[in-house]
Amino acid sequence: MRRATRFIILILSLCSGQRSDHRRSSCSRCDLHLSCNCSYGELSHVPMVTDEALSLDLSFNNITVVTDNDLTGHSRLKVLNLHGNRLAVIHPLAFDSLWSLEDLDLSDNQLKALNHQWFWKLEALQRLNLLNNLYSCLGSPPLFHGLVRLRRLLFGGPTLKELRRGDLCGVTQLEELTVEANNLTIYDSGTLGDIWPLGRVTVSLHGPFLTNTSLASAMLDDVSYPETSITLKDLYLKGPESVAPLKASAKKRVRHFSFYKSETSDESVVDLLVVLDGVPVTRLNFEDITLTGEGRWETANWTDHKSLDEFLFKNIVVLDLFKFSSLLQLKFVLQYLRKISVINCKVYVMPCQTSQLLVNLQYLDLSNNLLTDLTLAETLCDKSSTLEDLRVLNISKNPLRSLSKMNRLVAKLTKLTHLDISGTGYSSMPSNCSWPSSLRYLNISGAKLTNTSHCLHTNLEVLDLSFNDLKSFSMDLPVLRELHLSGNKLLRLPSGQHFPSLQTLSIQSNTLNWFSYSDLQSFRRLEDLRAGQNKLICSCDFVPFLQSQLRGEAGIQLSDREDSYVCDSPLYLQGAVVSGVRLSVVECHQVVFVSVSCGLALFVGMLGSALLWRLHAFWYLKMIWTWLKAKRSSQKRRRQKDTEDTEALLCFDAFVSYSERDAGWVENYMVPELEEPSKEDSGIPGSSHSLTLCLHKRDFLPGRWIMDNIMSAIERSRRTIFVLSENFVQSDWCRYELDFSHFWLFDAGGDAAILILLEPLSKDDVPKRFCKLRKLMSSTTYLEWPQEEERRPEFWRSLREALRGENE
Ligand SMILES: *[C@@H]1O[C@H](CO)[C@@H](O)[C@H](O)[C@H]1NC(C)=O
Ligand SMILES: *[C@@H]1O[C@H](CO)[C@@H](O)[C@H](O)[C@H]1NC(C)=O
Ligand SMILES: *[C@@H]1O[C@H](CO)[C@@H](O)[C@H](O)[C@H]1NC(C)=O
Ligand SMILES: *[C@@H]1O[C@H](CO)[C@@H](O)[C@H](O)[C@H]1NC(C)=O
Repeated sequence: MRRATRFIILILSLCSGQRSDHRRSSCSRCDLHLSCNCSYGELSHVPMVTDEALSLDLSFNNITVVTDNDLTGHSRLKVLNLHGNRLAVIHPLAFDSLWSLEDLDLSDNQLKALNHQWFWKLEALQRLNLLNNLYSCLGSPPLFHGLVRLRRLLFGGPTLKELRRGDLCGVTQLEELTVEANNLTIYDSGTLGDIWPLGRVTVSLHGPFLTNTSLASAMLDDVSYPETSITLKDLYLKGPESVAPLKASAKKRVRHFSFYKSETSDESVVDLLVVLDGVPVTRLNFEDITLTGEGRWETANWTDHKSLDEFLFKNIVVLDLFKFSSLLQLKFVLQYLRKISVINCKVYVMPCQTSQLLVNLQYLDLSNNLLTDLTLAETLCDKSSTLEDLRVLNISKNPLRSLSKMNRLVAKLTKLTHLDISGTGYSSMPSNCSWPSSLRYLNISGAKLTNTSHCLHTNLEVLDLSFNDLKSFSMDLPVLRELHLSGNKLLRLPSGQHFPSLQTLSIQSNTLNWFSYSDLQSFRRLEDLRAGQNKLICSCDFVPFLQSQLRGEAGIQLSDREDSYVCDSPLYLQGAVVSGVRLSVVECHQVVFVSVSCGLALFVGMLGSALLWRLHAFWYLKMIWTWLKAKRSSQKRRRQKDTEDTEALLCFDAFVSYSERDAGWVENYMVPELEEPSKEDSGIPGSSHSLTLCLHKRDFLPGRWIMDNIMSAIERSRRTIFVLSENFVQSDWCRYELDFSHFWLFDAGGDAAILILLEPLSKDDVPKRFCKLRKLMSSTTYLEWPQEEERRPEFWRSLREALRGENE
């Protein structure tokens, strides 16, 4: 047996082929939108996932291989992410069934060589990420030849050594091109030159910028167009001529330059400004830059940057912060700028002098810095006018405390439309404020406000008060279009009467229990409501209402995810998504349900009882039960009888069945007459022998069940005398006796029953259901108790004869 099983297993494993020598685990972490997130699962193989999946995230696992049947059947899959595994082998046909795939991420793996066959069938592919693997070249034949829809391409890594002409054959236009070429040593001029139009280009050229500037120049020359935004990454710009390769881009009149994750010195900044002299650059971004200088850049003040519009500094680390001489040095550039962002650069002040240079500035973002109430006053030139053209001011995420001081400072910015003071330390609102009349957008989210006041401007169109400590909000804002109140402690929706123009309201993550149709009705223009993640009470009124809202039946769109509407109570529904909740009638109309069902049950019960009573069902039931018992014990006794002597068991001559009401007659007439030897009969031989009667009153064993008593009495008696009368017919016990004796009679055969009519009683006086009695009365002759004294001896004689009958 065991050997057979082993054999079958062997056969099976042979049949399933060499390729599935492992047991594939499965992953079912898919959401409503068929997006399956199987990342961080410690998987060593591609898991089994539903064929329906549209998006499959396998990033950060330990997958080393993709076999040719790991992904078969996934013809609907649009996104496949294998980032951050240890992939070394991909079967040439592994992706063949992924006809719909639009986004493929193979970055951060250990692929030593790329195979053009992987991508053959991926005609829908729009984004391909091959960054950071172990390949040193793209290889031939050209990898991307069939990818006609490709718009985003990312490749390269620390091991990429060469890029050859023709490597990118077939790639015609891209929105995004990222090439990591920090260690690139061979570049055929023109390799990237056929791609046009080209949206954004990011190139990491650490090594070439340091040691092989002609290679860097050749590459930049190939990707630079006036409309293309160029980002240079991982540069180390120090010393003379370090920015020389940029001349290639400058010559092509590139307008958007970004530097990312690089290090630079004062000297190189000056060089850069010189290289860009006269070039129509409009935007310069510096992100994640370490500056080793002191900001001494004025030697470039002769250069021309009239076209510069926008400066962005983000996450800049100035190593010598205390020696840094402020942006004042860039005076010759600052006057032209219209947009400056200095984000997360540890700025604690921008001197008023600098602010006053920014005569054309419309947009100032100083978010995520160290401005205080005091230094903000300096930055916005407390006493004199400045930044008169400013439209947008973003001072969010600064340690500011006083809303009234800030309000005083911005009051003079007469063109200000957007003010972002989110993430500040403002905890209270003055009762009155004076905002520029132009202000339309105010963001005070993530502050510490506990109340609101008339400080809020009446011309506001967008107001964000989310993530504060507000318990209520009501204020007349006639032109407000957007109101954000998420992350507060509101219990109710605000009343719509205050916001006649409101179109968008978000009130997620509050303590809202419910809202009603009339609440929504009070907003005249509301189109978009976000009210998820609240403590909803799933009552019978609210659930159907919210479900109809979620289905969009009311004209107002609940635009947050359906599964963010979750019941908080009642307890048994806690955590249930409202759209899936089905409340039953029992829960929703409890009082009505209970009263109706009780009433109904009562009615049915009564009706049933009446019916049963009318049909004598109880009597019949009792009868059936008795009948069954009797049948059983009579069988038992018959078995006994077969072994023992019948006569020994019979100890009575007759069992007398009578109604309690006829007891007088039985005790006064019958017992004395039959049990005592009669004088007249003494002459007749045998007649002197007295009869023994079994009477229930006298001979039943106390403590036994009455039915048992009746049955054994009947069985131990030779005959049964029924004393029939009106009373008898009415007595239940008599009926049992009658009925049981019927068996007995039947079993014993012959005339074991003797009927005595105590009063005239015709067969028709007996109720129909006593069919046995009726039958008996018609088949057996009965003795009638004579009313006349003189006929009674005759009666007794007949009775005695009947009783002795068979014995003699
Ligand atoms: C992957 O496997 C290596 C060794 O095989 C192990 O050290 C590592 O913890 C695994 N990583 C995960 C995420 O399972
Ligand atoms: C260049 O390659 C060497 C090894 O080949 C590696 O150690 C180094 O990190 C690479 N340089 C960069 C900037 O990635
Ligand atoms: C202000 O800056 C923050 C953080 O940098 C940003 O999230 C927000 O969008 C900016 N606000 C505006 C109005 O641009
Ligand atoms: C308000 O600022 C926060 C944080 O900067 C941001 O997340 C939010 O989108 C802004 N609100 C609006 C309406 O722009």
